[in-house]
Amino acid sequence: MIEVKNAGYTYEGAARPALSDISLTVRRGEMLAVVGHNGSGKSTLAKLLNGLLLPQSGDVLVDGMNTKEERLILKIRQRVGMVFQNPDNQLVTTVVEEDVAFGPESIGVPPPDIRKRVDAALAMVNMQKYADRAPHMLSGGQKQRVAIAGMLAMQPEVLVMDEATAMLDPEGGADILEIMRRLNRTEGITVVMITQQMEEAALCDRMVVLFQGTLLADDAPRKIFRDEAMLVCAGLNVPAMVRLRNALNSKGAALLKEPINVEELASAIAARAKARHTQ
Ligand SMILES: Nc1ncnc2c1ncn2[C@@H]1O[C@H](COP(=O)(O)OP(=O)(O)OP(=O)(O)O)[C@@H](O)[C@H]1O
Ligand SMILES: [Mg+2]
Repeated sequence: MIEVKNAGYTYEGAARPALSDISLTVRRGEMLAVVGHNGSGKSTLAKLLNGLLLPQSGDVLVDGMNTKEERLILKIRQRVGMVFQNPDNQLVTTVVEEDVAFGPESIGVPPPDIRKRVDAALAMVNMQKYADRAPHMLSGGQKQRVAIAGMLAMQPEVLVMDEATAMLDPEGGADILEIMRRLNRTEGITVVMITQQMEEAALCDRMVVLFQGTLLADDAPRKIFRDEAMLVCAGLNVPAMVRLRNALNSKGAALLKEPINVEELASAIAARAKARHTQ
């Protein structure tokens, strides 16, 4: 789907590269987490994925199309949509449905098709009821859902979410995550979740860890969470439930499974208690 090949990028006047020699494949249909501490290069990588920035060394290919080819850039941006952190910066009109229609209009989609796309996109983020509302009256999470609908109306294959839950309250963030997981599973949309929240990464199929512009790890979240020291070096941590399981084991709990969320840890503890009981 997207291939990043030995990509490097240094901002003008910066002392060190924001990204150096990054190679990474975003596979069709997966939900990929990109994690990293502040300044590790996450947003720079996000912008390389749809040609908002061009790599100064190496290449980025979207379905085989090189982002350096100017004539392909609109096609690439349509295929790879981006949602940013601040919902207020992404809404441009005074009515929700107009906002969602903005993208398709700008690429000349015929009006009856625009209507269909807007309705479908708002339904996918559970915002149909708000179609005629003013975006500034919505909560942060609702605004972010409208921003996602605006991207969905462009019928992208990939959605890159650059810390799209970071400014929301926990409930708003959880809604967005659930919507993204559903869009990924039922609509087949490839999702790149950029985040500093390990709990969010734990919901993804695969995760990559960035540190000072380099790629430290690329594997299933469950495997990456085994290397707590590596994540701590990168200025991150394992999810709270992984820490709790490790702490319990250090006190002799002997939990064999590797739970990464509350439900899994609860099951592991319950299974262990049952085993003790029947011993
Ligand atoms: N426009 C810019 N001009 C100069 N340097 C920049 C610019 N944008 C980012 N940088 C630098 O490039 C590096 C990577 O930044 P980037 O925004 O990609 O990191 P990030 O992981 O997204 O950080 P954050 O968690 O703060 O969003 C940082 O050292 C940052 O200071
Ligand atoms: Mg960023």
